[in-house]
Amino acid sequence: DKSNELMLLGQKYATDDWTNVMPNVIAKLGRNLHVQQNHPLSHLRQRIVNYFYGQFRSKSGTPSFSVYDNICPIVTVEQNFDSLLVPKDHPSRKKTDCYFINQDTLLRAHTTAHQAELISMGLNNFLVIGDVYRRDEIDRTHYSIFHQVDAVRLRTSQEIFRNVNDSENLKLFEHRGIENADKQACHSLEAVKVMEQELKSTLTSLAQAIFGKDVQCRWVDQYFPFTHPSWELEILHNDNWLEILGCGIMRQEILQKSGAMDRIGWAFGLGLERLAMRLYNIPDIRLFWSNDAGFLNQFKVDNPNAHIQYKPISIYPPCINDISFWLPEDGSYSSHDFYDIVREIGGDIIEQISLKDEFIHPNTKKTSHCYSIVYRHMERTLIQKVVNKIHDQIAKAATAKLNVVIR
Ligand code: PHE
Repeated sequence: DKSNELMLLGQKYATDDWTNVMPNVIAKLGRNLHVQQNHPLSHLRQRIVNYFYGQFRSKSGTPSFSVYDNICPIVTVEQNFDSLLVPKDHPSRKKTDCYFINQDTLLRAHTTAHQAELISMGLNNFLVIGDVYRRDEIDRTHYSIFHQVDAVRLRTSQEIFRNVNDSENLKLFEHRGIENADKQACHSLEAVKVMEQELKSTLTSLAQAIFGKDVQCRWVDQYFPFTHPSWELEILHNDNWLEILGCGIMRQEILQKSGAMDRIGWAFGLGLERLAMRLYNIPDIRLFWSNDAGFLNQFKVDNPNAHIQYKPISIYPPCINDISFWLPEDGSYSSHDFYDIVREIGGDIIEQISLKDEFIHPNTKKTSHCYSIVYRHMERTLIQKVVNKIHDQIAKAATAKLNVVIR
């Protein structure tokens, strides 16, 4: 039965009751904006790659990092979660947060999904760059597809203690150690501190290479299942602290299972859109997907370091329509299912969906949600009559698929 199969990037996949990839997401598979010539995401990718090539070289002068920007985004649950020690009950595994193809297969939710495999292949320094997929809110900074850069650097004991005098006595590992805020049980504190120092100075210099020498940075403690300790780097941008990446000392269990037990590693992951929007002054994340010459021509430069400030062609007026409905009483409702339906029907003219009001009827105890949907076209003025038609279609689809009752 063909209806139980999906064709994605030239491969057939069985579907099941976990399948929740939507046609509008599938349509974007293979666009690979991060390697599209003259695309802002591609310029930024090139700058980050150049920084790593320049910063880390072998004795003979060749770049230490290898770059993987072409790995298929369809991964297994094992790659995306298990290989990274993500607990079985971790919220990031939920059907409401990921695009599943079937119960074992999904569109990767982070480029970290490939880290264990690349280490198993024997790599010690690498970048993975690609498209990632998450079910999320819909507004000017969130989109179901975005792009990440992940990095891994593995070091031996000789490498990290090379410049220390009595390095004989310094070890990567310690037996009978205990885990605390500074380190994992198996690591020596001195090894972790050397790695932490290199990781943090590498990333603050990267932030300076992109945003200029004067950019203000700060480190915030964080938690990831695959690193400990873990941090986030924030930069001060237009008076706001903006989180730009997550990083940490890799869980030794991952290295052990991948055959790199004699090394210690650091890793980080960053989102390209978030940085590119600030760097180029791009006001809406949908613009990255635009085929409009008015957008793309502004990035037609050969030098990826060129200073570019995007100038909106003009901002067209929005149409804002509300929708209210009673939720089904069986608890099956998820707002992410609704967001997907809205995006599926409205496409990229949906700028934002916000929950305006939640209300529980005092007698029936039924819950009602009211959402505001902002419709705005990036390249022309929308006509209210056209928007109303789309809005009606959304109401019909929500009724049919989510068991809600329009008020
Ligand atoms: N994968 C993490 C994310 O998507 C980022 C990360 C990568 C953090 C590697 C630590 C190490 O948020």
